[in-house]
Amino acid sequence: MPVTAPQKRLFIKTYGCQMNVYDSERMAEVLAPLGYGVTDSPEGADLVVLNTCHIREKATEKVYSELGQIRLMKQEREAAGAGMTIAVAGCVAQAEGEEIMRRQPAVDLVVGPQAYHQLPELIARAHRARGERLAADFAAEEKFDALPEKRTVSGVTAFLTVQEGCDKFCTFCVVPYTRGAEWSRPAGAILKEAQSLAEQGVREVTLLGQNVNAYRDPDGSGGLAALARALAQIPGLDRIRYTTSHPRDMDDELIAAHGELSAFMPFLHLPVQSGSNKILKAMNRGHTVEAYLALIEKIRAARPDIAISSDYIVGFPGERESDFEATLALVRQMGHASAFSFKYSRRPGTPAAALPGQVPEEVKTERLARLQALLDEQQVAFNAAQIGRTLPVLFERKGRHEGQLVGRSPYLQGVHAAAPERLIGQIAAVRIEGASKNSLSGVLVESPAGAPVLERI
Ligand code: SAH
Ligand code: SF4
Ligand code: F3S
Repeated sequence: MPVTAPQKRLFIKTYGCQMNVYDSERMAEVLAPLGYGVTDSPEGADLVVLNTCHIREKATEKVYSELGQIRLMKQEREAAGAGMTIAVAGCVAQAEGEEIMRRQPAVDLVVGPQAYHQLPELIARAHRARGERLAADFAAEEKFDALPEKRTVSGVTAFLTVQEGCDKFCTFCVVPYTRGAEWSRPAGAILKEAQSLAEQGVREVTLLGQNVNAYRDPDGSGGLAALARALAQIPGLDRIRYTTSHPRDMDDELIAAHGELSAFMPFLHLPVQSGSNKILKAMNRGHTVEAYLALIEKIRAARPDIAISSDYIVGFPGERESDFEATLALVRQMGHASAFSFKYSRRPGTPAAALPGQVPEEVKTERLARLQALLDEQQVAFNAAQIGRTLPVLFERKGRHEGQLVGRSPYLQGVHAAAPERLIGQIAAVRIEGASKNSLSGVLVESPAGAPVLERI
């Protein structure tokens, strides 16, 4: 079959969460048949897509400043007789599409997270300079039906979206408004996609969803645990992760699967947000600190070596010093492998934005620094505790130094080791000898026959 080189250059910049990373990959796949090949710089690109995030004010503002820069590049290209199409995708597109087009007239089209399968049509319309330039429908189902069945991937790990949207309406959060209601993909379609990933050498999938553990196969084959069991049957798919979960959807079947399914990695991102019941209530999280801790205990009973990560928000309206100290106390009790923490950001249209008791910026800054110092300390300690252990490492790529490979431990830590290139895409045993805040280093454990020993964790 003749292979035609891409004639047009596509630059995609991705902001926000892993779901956006997945969506960006899929956008590139939708655009490939039109002759677009991905490039790593906006300069000289025929099509620039900004895949945006609306979660915090800073993320949103970044988009407008980036658009200002790209507009200049577009003008330069136009002066040279070429063109550049600018598209804004993702959650800012969904939330403030009209405003984007008003604030930045250089934008040719705006496409929401559930409508990007329409990109080819929107681009054609933009080129004809007429018709609708904004697509922000909410039909996730239609999108997945319209996306190419085969994925094109190059790495040994991949994201796979299985669920979208959120019905939880935490009072601080824009996601229910930008991504729509909770919706799950049929297991059959997910398995087909996973199969195609495995055929291309993928060994580890991370199942994605804004509330991934709310997953329910619409065709009735069960929840996330059942899906993971089916995925684990696919030859080559040795590791399964999922993110992000909500404590309310962590059911007994899923917890049990953590103890039974060796493909499930012993690392769980389970955001709690605060250690104060008063704040959790005001956030509409639907769980207390005690319920969260009881849940963690159950999970650890099923899988004693599981490492837990979380998200925390500091400075939510009404958060007093004592509430914040309750958060620090919870973190101390948890002993996280890693965790994310954010200053509360007031999002227009969300209930918390209108609450009294907004916390001054300097107080938020000071609390965040204290929380992050504690989390950093825990991450360093968790990593250091791996020294002396032998961990199965999935090697992903060459490292910076000659003869070195970089991979991931079951706990998602980056691991460096001297290893032959043929081990890329393989899981090999590495004895950990060094640890820093962000990664581990070790030596390959050789069996008497000279082959790296595999150990299942
Ligand atoms: N669905 C996931 C994550 C959604 S957004 C969940 O429920 O956990 C990722 C994280 O961003 C959230 O967990 C929360 O900690 C943070 N976040 C969301 N809205 C925010 C806001 N308005 N200000 C600060 N952080 C926020
Ligand atoms: Fe946002 Fe809460 Fe839904 Fe997570 S569960 S996406 S924080 S509303
Ligand atoms: Fe951001 Fe949208 Fe993800 S708001 S965090 S890109 S779901």
